[in-house]
Amino acid sequence: MDGYSRFASKRTTLFRASEIRELLKLTEGKDIISLAGGLPDPRVFDERLKDITSRILEDQRDLALQYSPTAGVTEFRKTLIEFTRDKGVKLGPEDDVIVTTGSQESLYLIARVLVDPGDIVIIEEPTYLAAANVFREHGAVFKAIPIDHDGMKTEILEERLRQLKSEGKKPKLAYLVPTCQNPSGSTMTQERRKHLIELAEQYDFLIIEDDPYSFFTFEPLQFDYLKTLDPNYRVLYVSTFSKILAPGLRIGWTIAHKDLVRYIELAKQTVDLHSSTLSQYIAMEAIKKGIVEDTIERARILYKEKRDAMMEALEEHMSSLATWTKPVGGFFTMVYLNVDLDTKALVNEAVTKYKVAYVPGESFFPVTKKKNTMRLNFSYPPPEKIREGVKRIATLVKEKIKA
Ligand SMILES: Cc1ncc(COP(=O)(O)O)c(C=O)c1O
Repeated sequence: MDGYSRFASKRTTLFRASEIRELLKLTEGKDIISLAGGLPDPRVFDERLKDITSRILEDQRDLALQYSPTAGVTEFRKTLIEFTRDKGVKLGPEDDVIVTTGSQESLYLIARVLVDPGDIVIIEEPTYLAAANVFREHGAVFKAIPIDHDGMKTEILEERLRQLKSEGKKPKLAYLVPTCQNPSGSTMTQERRKHLIELAEQYDFLIIEDDPYSFFTFEPLQFDYLKTLDPNYRVLYVSTFSKILAPGLRIGWTIAHKDLVRYIELAKQTVDLHSSTLSQYIAMEAIKKGIVEDTIERARILYKEKRDAMMEALEEHMSSLATWTKPVGGFFTMVYLNVDLDTKALVNEAVTKYKVAYVPGESFFPVTKKKNTMRLNFSYPPPEKIREGVKRIATLVKEKIKA
């Protein structure tokens, strides 16, 4: 390892470098088309954020630059509850909210509060890589349930739960991105959502509903949030301003039963005391002034256009080489090559020779490790780069098939 491994805690052996962050380092500042990252298009960022920030610093400086409560600025927490309700998430009288440093911190704190080494955590496959890393770090044992265009296959989940029960085991937690999933862009049907909630009741586990993308779907979708369908406070609803305002603010939130929120608050006290007070004031004003709604509308239009560009390019260049998911929202599509090529082994060549980057799919499949897959991002690059990037990937794959 390195010169300090003898000092490092055992926990560090569970750390995994995020492949995406490593790749971003490789592509930074170079003439490479990156379909690897997951950045918002900066054109969605609202110009008025500048004025709001100056106004806050003029009128409320003493508060906005000060330490604030661990669970979040009180007025902002009220605003967040209203905002979440306005978006169609039904909340119960026992629900409470905590503000976190991005939704990534929500996931981390939830894992810290709920997951002991050896606990079974149900995940989708493919799943959001950075969430899998959080649960792994806490010693979770994954049970992976495959997804299709309609989200997690709950009939398979049911079989798995029955099997676990027969072995005297049960999961503690299920982690899902049920709407506009990362990395597939799929959305769970209403029937499967209801089935999942029934199973959580029957087999007594909690559910994390991670929801960064549902506010800007590319087509009108009919669904109820898992939180809405949840009669007994089993769902922890997690969301973020990263895609609907600006990721640099690092503001996310979790809504769950107040007893769970209290645990999360205690965990947060030792992690970072509280999330940025200034960012909370900015996000609160952005909601009140309609800036978040305007950002959402820009996001919907812009990302739909780019999703379409990616779908067309895949159709044109990859139809004989692969299948891929058809995202109804979010930032990504997952590509499944028809041939048995390890995309991880090819990525360096893709970057150096073909000047295109993607994320090898393997780590989105923490259990089954599907190597012939890749995640492609369409939110950041302009449509012409998306087309060119896909064309280059197709050329690389064709070359490898011939070889
Ligand atoms: C599914 C999902 N969850 C959580 C996050 C973390 O986002 P943030 O910490 O910026 O809120 C992301 C970011 O891409 C994501 O796609």
